[in-house]
Amino acid sequence: MIYAGILAGGKGTRMGNVPMPKQFLQLHDKPILIHTIEKFILNNRIDQIIIATPKEWINHTNDILNKYDLNLPKVWVTEGGTDRNGSIMNIINFIEGIFEIHDADIIITHDAVRPFLTHRIIEQNIEEGLVNDAVDTVIAAIDTIITSEDGDFVSSIPVRDFMYQGQTPQTFNIKKLKVLYNSLSDQEKNILTDACKIFVMKGQKVKLVRGETFNIKVTTPYDLNVSNAILTGSLVR
Ligand code: CTP
Repeated sequence: MIYAGILAGGKGTRMGNVPMPKQFLQLHDKPILIHTIEKFILNNRIDQIIIATPKEWINHTNDILNKYDLNLPKVWVTEGGTDRNGSIMNIINFIEGIFEIHDADIIITHDAVRPFLTHRIIEQNIEEGLVNDAVDTVIAAIDTIITSEDGDFVSSIPVRDFMYQGQTPQTFNIKKLKVLYNSLSDQEKNILTDACKIFVMKGQKVKLVRGETFNIKVTTPYDLNVSNAILTGSLVR
């Protein structure tokens, strides 16, 4: 089975003073989350779509799914976790509660607040996810990346040709992810905030899939302005 796990369990504090977590904010004609879900519904290879949202927003999530006619049998809502990986694991636990997880089953995890992912990105995540245990979506770094450990002076300037920016989706063999995650100590769980990083730290391979520059994560009010411009065509992709 091919599952999609939509990560909508965050609070969106960097969006500032808004009435609801950013995944529920309106982007042109509908909430950001709805734009994202529609992309996954359009891919008929995906068997089930599970959305993780904060507990107090579960009813609202169901309401907007109804409003936009997305309350389909394959779309489910569950409670998010205290951090992003916690939301992924809650989705996997939810899947286990309803379906039996088989060795070959994969999950395409995606930030609810990246509404501009493409069919090609989803397809490549599926193709690579079926033959690799972990897949990350990236774009080549455009700016030179500077690292600074104290925030005051440069620590290093890595060769740009080797630098990429991480996006989502990230796709995993469900059983492999679960085993690796459960092997982490609480301290490791706090450090390994990116699910692909769990595989890297445990010496496992992570396959790269090319993302898109416009596959942005809506994080700040500026990003919401840019997203509206992308959607209304006033910003050419
Ligand atoms: N996310 C999640 N569960 C969490 C935290 C985050 O599912 N406990 C999701 C968010 O809803 C979002 C994605 O992960 O779709 C990326 O999160 P990010 O924007 O980095 O974090 P937020 O917590 O949403 O925002 P902020 O850091 O500004 O508070």
